[in-house]
Amino acid sequence: MDIDQVHDLMEDIAEQQEVANEIQELEELEQEELDKQLLDANPAPVSLPDAPRVALPSVPSRQAKVAATADKDLEDLESWANAQENVFKYNVLRSYGMAVIRQPLYLMSELCEYGALREYLRENSKTTTDAERVEFCLGSAKGVEYLHSQRLIHRDLAIRNVLLTEEKIPKISDFGLAKVTDRYEMKEQCKTPVRYLAPETLENYIFTPKSDVFSFGMVIWEIYENGQQPHDGKNAQTIRDLTKKQQFLKLNEKAPNELRKLVSDKIFVPDPENRCNMSTVVQTIENLVK
Ligand SMILES: Nc1ncnc2c1ncn2[C@@H]1O[C@H](COP(=O)(O)OP(=O)(O)OP(=O)(O)O)[C@@H](O)[C@H]1O
Ligand SMILES: [Mg+2]
Repeated sequence: MDIDQVHDLMEDIAEQQEVANEIQELEELEQEELDKQLLDANPAPVSLPDAPRVALPSVPSRQAKVAATADKDLEDLESWANAQENVFKYNVLRSYGMAVIRQPLYLMSELCEYGALREYLRENSKTTTDAERVEFCLGSAKGVEYLHSQRLIHRDLAIRNVLLTEEKIPKISDFGLAKVTDRYEMKEQCKTPVRYLAPETLENYIFTPKSDVFSFGMVIWEIYENGQQPHDGKNAQTIRDLTKKQQFLKLNEKAPNELRKLVSDKIFVPDPENRCNMSTVVQTIENLVK
């Protein structure tokens, strides 16, 4: 796909977003009426490009489940789209727009040629150097630090949500669970990534930037375990029990000592008050590469 086609595609998405804004104004309408309006809007479909520089993954089903017809879902979708717009930064996946009118919903974002860091490390475990691993940790940490500076809690940090560009720059992606707030208490039972969750989240369903820091510890662990899943083979209850007993994972000996210390003393700690913030994580890793 050439650049003109990319522009056409972006125009299509912009057009669809305009229609989406109009639909938002119809929030008061009864569900049935709103459904009818959605059908009438009938926007041109966005075709899936085989572009070298953009990716157009469909939005995960947990966001797409109602095609944004209910009021609350429209709100969620809007804050999600706003979060996407505001997070353009070097180590955060750049997003160009969303097509929200019909299923499946599409999100147009920059293309990361190497795909997920998890798969990259699984396939290149033997050739990945120590220096590259530290760079993966540093780049991802900077991405999360930036999100937190924007008051955004990611809530789904895991190596499968770190993508790798052609230049092997890690980008934080997948904002499906992200919230623009300092503290989010999950009221209803939702699917959560249990093996990555901080003790206070497992216990009280509380998400803060500090719970992201705990999950980021898992990202570092995964980077040194070549994309292996944390607590592999253990069920949710066992993971909860281990976390309750403060039996946290430890980085293996391939990781630099300072990083192992950071993770065990400042990241995998039960009390979020005693846990460091993302800036400390970034600074500590930066000192390793100096
Ligand atoms: N912008 C992108 N550039 C390149 N590949 C991408 C991009 N976005 C997604 N992918 C690919 O799509 C895959 C699936 O991503 P997706 O976030 O949907 O699933 P996941 O993270 O494995 O699971 P989950 O449903 O829990 O998010 C990624 O592993 C990656 O290979
Ligand atoms: Mg994902």
